[in-house]
Amino acid sequence: MKKVIEENKQGQSLVLEQKEGNTKKLFIESYGCQMNFSDSEIVASILANQGFNTTQNIEEADLVLVNTCSIRDKAEQTVRKRLEQYNSIKKINPGMKVGVLGCMAERLKSKFLEEEKIVDMVVGPDAYKDIPNLLKEVDEGRDAVNVILSKDETYGDVAPVRLNSNGVTAFVSITRGCDNMCTFCVVPFTRGRERSREPQSIMEEIKQLWDNGYKEVTLLGQNVDSYLWYGGGLKKDYEKASEMQKATAVDFAQLLDMAATAFPKMRFRFSTSNPQDMHLSVIEVMAKHHNICKYIHLPVQSGSTRILKEMNRQHTREEYMELVDNIYRIIPEISLSQDMITGFPSETEEDHKDTLSLMEYVKYDFGYMFAYSERPGTLAARKMEDDVPEEVKKRRLQEVVDLQQKMAWERTRRFLGQVVEVLIEKESKRSNAHWSGRNSQNTTVVFPKGDYKKGEFVNVKITDCTSATLIGEAVGYSDMN
Ligand code: SAH
Ligand code: F3S
Repeated sequence: MKKVIEENKQGQSLVLEQKEGNTKKLFIESYGCQMNFSDSEIVASILANQGFNTTQNIEEADLVLVNTCSIRDKAEQTVRKRLEQYNSIKKINPGMKVGVLGCMAERLKSKFLEEEKIVDMVVGPDAYKDIPNLLKEVDEGRDAVNVILSKDETYGDVAPVRLNSNGVTAFVSITRGCDNMCTFCVVPFTRGRERSREPQSIMEEIKQLWDNGYKEVTLLGQNVDSYLWYGGGLKKDYEKASEMQKATAVDFAQLLDMAATAFPKMRFRFSTSNPQDMHLSVIEVMAKHHNICKYIHLPVQSGSTRILKEMNRQHTREEYMELVDNIYRIIPEISLSQDMITGFPSETEEDHKDTLSLMEYVKYDFGYMFAYSERPGTLAARKMEDDVPEEVKKRRLQEVVDLQQKMAWERTRRFLGQVVEVLIEKESKRSNAHWSGRNSQNTTVVFPKGDYKKGEFVNVKITDCTSATLIGEAVGYSDMN
């Protein structure tokens, strides 16, 4: 692989990996969660072995792939609109073939080919290795659909081609699928049952990144704390494993400890943590290693125990509070973030107040908040009435967003006057005289460039802030370099 530096539309430089001798052009774009962005890098790698290099220019692409999201109706509408735009691009580039990947592909299957004439190929999240065969079908004018979900596919043997990379931070996926069956969520249906990737292949991918100059890795999974390697296979089949397999099993705390110990100058993050699977052993490993960022994305979805039960989340409001108390006790400087859903079926004003009061209790640094969107096939869609009026969902959402913004402002301000460690990721969007990066707690920090370079860890004294960004001045290199 050869590295090519290109500028994107915002004028920021991106590292593109190209395989010499490849002549076909792939345009690939991703919507939705980080896992989709990470999966697209796996797909780009599979296609690099089929003669494709990526391009930033869709009009010259031989193959256009869109990695889709089904999490809310709006996410699907965004993809549909994008497919409409492809229709007009096809007038300029008549030879281009279009493939749909990801959760919408899995959910809609061959229906996609009927509903969207522009689509030539439909590939679910576990079938990416079949793309070379599917492309042959497309060339021969046949329908090309593979949406088979797998028991053991983790793509552990595929070395991702980094896309849209800043050359400093990267994602490494460690688990696939989800077994939690939250009643509102389409993910268990579109991504299948949960399985973990072999630790050795995770460590090798991190080593590759390290050798290529990367400085930060985010370990990815729908539910990382549930990670469990016992020789392969589904998480739910662990009970059937042999005594030997059980004795040598690796859980998330152990994996994190292994990675942080083996690569002491690489910074680690992880996402997402489901409260029911987040054990104190993980918090203790975080506290032990300077190079594990002090930030946990800990979605709760609602502050009402009754609604949590309806959602099939396996904990109460009080248990969540206890977990948060323990986290703050072990790592006082931690930052926490939430996902919240407003207007879940049967949510009352009282339940909504419980959500607001839980937020006040936890004091989240960040939040990702959504109005409930009914997803076909989920238990909530089948068994519960979507009975909270749209305007009530929206009003509650606004209240949750407003409160989050107020808390974020207070949380960001806590860094004023402190010196924080920042990994330089890119030029600031507002000024090319400033660098932008994040501190351990995931807050964005901007500061004058001085002689510092992208990919360096710098100590920055914070002098000012907005609600979400810290502003400061570099006072020297940190020990992480
Ligand atoms: N694995 C993560 C969540 C993945 S989905 C977890 O452990 O919680 C990302 C977020 O989208 C969810 O946390 C939830 O807040 C939101 N979401 C999922 N399904 C939704 C729906 N039907 N309506 C609205 N928001 C939804
Ligand atoms: Fe979805 Fe719940 Fe899993 S939100 S991804 S089913 S943890």
